[in-house]
Amino acid sequence: MIKLSNRLQALFEWCDGEVIADIGCDHGYISLKLAQEKGKKVYACDVAQGPLQRARTLFEKEEADICCLLMNGIVNLPDDVDQILIAGMGGQLMISILEDGKEKASHLQSMILSPHKDAPDLRKYLIDHHFRIVKERTIKEGNHFYPILYVMHGKQERSVLKDYYGYHMIEDEEYKQFVDHEYKKWKALELSVPASQFKEGEKRLKLLEQIRTKRSC
Ligand SMILES: C[S@@+](CC[C@H](N)C(=O)[O-])C[C@H]1O[C@@H](n2cnc3c(N)ncnc32)[C@H](O)[C@@H]1O
Repeated sequence: MIKLSNRLQALFEWCDGEVIADIGCDHGYISLKLAQEKGKKVYACDVAQGPLQRARTLFEKEEADICCLLMNGIVNLPDDVDQILIAGMGGQLMISILEDGKEKASHLQSMILSPHKDAPDLRKYLIDHHFRIVKERTIKEGNHFYPILYVMHGKQERSVLKDYYGYHMIEDEEYKQFVDHEYKKWKALELSVPASQFKEGEKRLKLLEQIRTKRSC
């Protein structure tokens, strides 16, 4: 049985669809565990032949019945998929996958998205395109913090604070560490960047101070 990293385990735990497509499955670990431990029907999908072959070899070894699809994004997603997981790519790439696959995305029940960067752009895109972020959490792995978003259709009020730092975020110890890490990063930059070039930093520090004051610890 494969032992998943904290990040992959958190993604696995939030997958609750009946038929799940793991977009950009790469190693195939989450797909495998979803099939073996949650009994889900899974499509393991990747745009590149190499990763998909790696996943296929793993599934064969484990005798797991998982369909592997070589495809770009979600345009050609099978109709029975009700949930997609997209993790380990940048937010901009996720936006282009959702934009190109608008029609398919409109039929999904939910999406689990975990961008490695540009999370604020992804949040803005989702809310401007009639999705709502139902819950979020932050996972720390090494020196990186990864957001995980559980997304459904619906309306949500945009907020600059939430675009940057999360909607319905689970405010646990990892999130606290993330906020403190961001705060220290922008504070250090403040000392080394001329004030005229620190507009983004000023905005971020104000938002982070709001979060830190609210939590009052
Ligand atoms: C860094 S891996 C992430 C693997 C896994 N999802 C995770 O979170 O650990 C990114 C994978 O996404 C795939 N990928 C990149 N662009 C894609 C696209 N447009 N459609 C499907 N897969 C894509 C890459 O080939 C690669 O295997």
